[in-house]
Amino acid sequence: MCGIVGYIGEEQAGPILLDGLSKLEYRGYDSAGIAVFDGEKINTHKALGKLRVLYDETEGGNTLKGTCGIGHTRWATHGIPSVRNAHPHMNSDETIAVVHNGIIENYLKLRKKLEGKGYVFNSDTDTEVVAHLLDYYYKGDALKAIATVMQRVEGSYALAILFKDHPSHIYAARKDSPMVIGKGSGENYVASDVPAILRYTRDVFYVENEELVSISKENVRFYNTDLEEVSKECKKVEWDISAAEKGGYEYFMLKEIYDQPKAIKDTMNPRIKDDNIVIEELGMTDEEIRRIDRIYIVACGTAYHTGVAAKYIFEDLARIPVEVDLASEFRYRNPICNAGTMVIVVSQSGETADSLAALRLAKERGLRTLGIVNVVGSSIAREADHVIYTWAGPEIAVASTKAYSTQLIAHYLLAVKFAFVRGMISREEMSGYIREMKELPAQIEMLLAGKEKIQKFANRYIAAKDVFFIGRGLDYAVSLEASLKLKEISYIFSDAYAAGELKHGPISLVEDGTLVVAVLTQDVLVPKMISNMQEVITRGAFVMAITNTEHTEVEKSAQYVLYIPKTCRYFTCSLAIIPLQLFAYYISLGKGLDVDKPRNLAKSVTVE
Ligand code: M6R
Repeated sequence: MCGIVGYIGEEQAGPILLDGLSKLEYRGYDSAGIAVFDGEKINTHKALGKLRVLYDETEGGNTLKGTCGIGHTRWATHGIPSVRNAHPHMNSDETIAVVHNGIIENYLKLRKKLEGKGYVFNSDTDTEVVAHLLDYYYKGDALKAIATVMQRVEGSYALAILFKDHPSHIYAARKDSPMVIGKGSGENYVASDVPAILRYTRDVFYVENEELVSISKENVRFYNTDLEEVSKECKKVEWDISAAEKGGYEYFMLKEIYDQPKAIKDTMNPRIKDDNIVIEELGMTDEEIRRIDRIYIVACGTAYHTGVAAKYIFEDLARIPVEVDLASEFRYRNPICNAGTMVIVVSQSGETADSLAALRLAKERGLRTLGIVNVVGSSIAREADHVIYTWAGPEIAVASTKAYSTQLIAHYLLAVKFAFVRGMISREEMSGYIREMKELPAQIEMLLAGKEKIQKFANRYIAAKDVFFIGRGLDYAVSLEASLKLKEISYIFSDAYAAGELKHGPISLVEDGTLVVAVLTQDVLVPKMISNMQEVITRGAFVMAITNTEHTEVEKSAQYVLYIPKTCRYFTCSLAIIPLQLFAYYISLGKGLDVDKPRNLAKSVTVE
């Protein structure tokens, strides 16, 4: 997501901060800024766009004089990319400067409180509340003020902070957002990611959750939130720079697969409040939600596949008819719409040409539009009436993984909320769904821990000519995505079929040794799926099945079974996709392909 760098020592901080930020460029960002203490005051400079702009405007960081500073590259979450929303953020008298990674979930409440006390905000960010809160609690002891703020804010954060009163220190704190301290000789560093400081030092301390750090040029001290000092061991970074950029993973795709538990928490947690689903960005009253009588979900590729899953959930749970359309089709047909029609456009990049055109068509028809988008300030986010950001962080690999998982979460939140508001489920049922949803990150972590088994299996199929995925209901939806993942990065032909359709044609493709991946997570459909598996096995197929731990009977009808944890029937795609993403990844890796940049594909398809 965003990137943080801080330096304190004998050298001019500005050039070091810019150099460090440049090592985080691969993560993607939309604006950047630095704050340097010149001995008397904290000077800041922020710029929109590439780091080059900040570099040119500050003459390589040299116009800000001083040997203590912090810098930030921003990937917008709250507030569009702009100079005013770029970090660092300051309190009103500019004596405290803050850079932040993560999301302050209760920032609106805190902002209201602070505004009530006369604080004036200069940005739309969640981060700015931290600067003003620090100002509010600061009575001369910086660590005490930070510890108090940590008790007030909810969400995730890595913070680097300058106090004018403490010119020989940088302060830092973290919760659920990574942070490292680099140890030098007569100088020290702070960063969100190792690559930013690797050129200067390989000796690092990893900051743990809910820890505070006080950094001077000679010393680094760690504290818990009770401000008791914590001792910590310095570690040697052995990675090279390119491995460090990927957090030690061989490819961004694998890193992003591993990012998923955190990414879905970032999508989900801010929207679950006191056992309730609160989607402030939706901008719809309960009465308006009750008036919806048709939903179109329009998207391309992976985003479209989340729509296919969402259709099953919205219809079954909220009893709203849903049509899912490929954006390239929707834009050229004449969809039937009325005042109760809502159009949801789903897009990671927010720039996909067909999705944007579909959104514009919906708006021309006067329909209510909602974007489910990852990139803040992108065209779809700007043009849709309302937008739910997925906050997955930059997705760099062409093959979408964490965008898929976070888009699913956005659909779940909407479907459960709509079902409750429309009286289709009780409060207790809603609480049950929320509980199940909250289990997903830990369940995904469990699945990721089993990656070796999947790698071994994938290695057997590196030479496969074609692979088929079958499923029913939501398992068909996840099969579509699994098949796309495999074909786009392994160049193996694959297709997904609703299992009931096999006998109507596709089964003629099955021959000796054909790999058929069967997904069966929907309890009532398991017996039907088992029959379909028997049909292909009889024709020579090798069946790998994905089911939940309650269906061990599947072992009799498949040569290989992978189990996923049991979750509520609506959320199974979130779990079933994990081994299948890994399967595609390891096949591509085993074939020696460029996993992150498959041939003929671009990350964002901005032309028709
Ligand atoms: O940025 P978008 O979500 O609008 O992109 C849509 C598709 O181009 C995208 O999901 C594509 O299918 C991915 N490469 C799939 O991994």
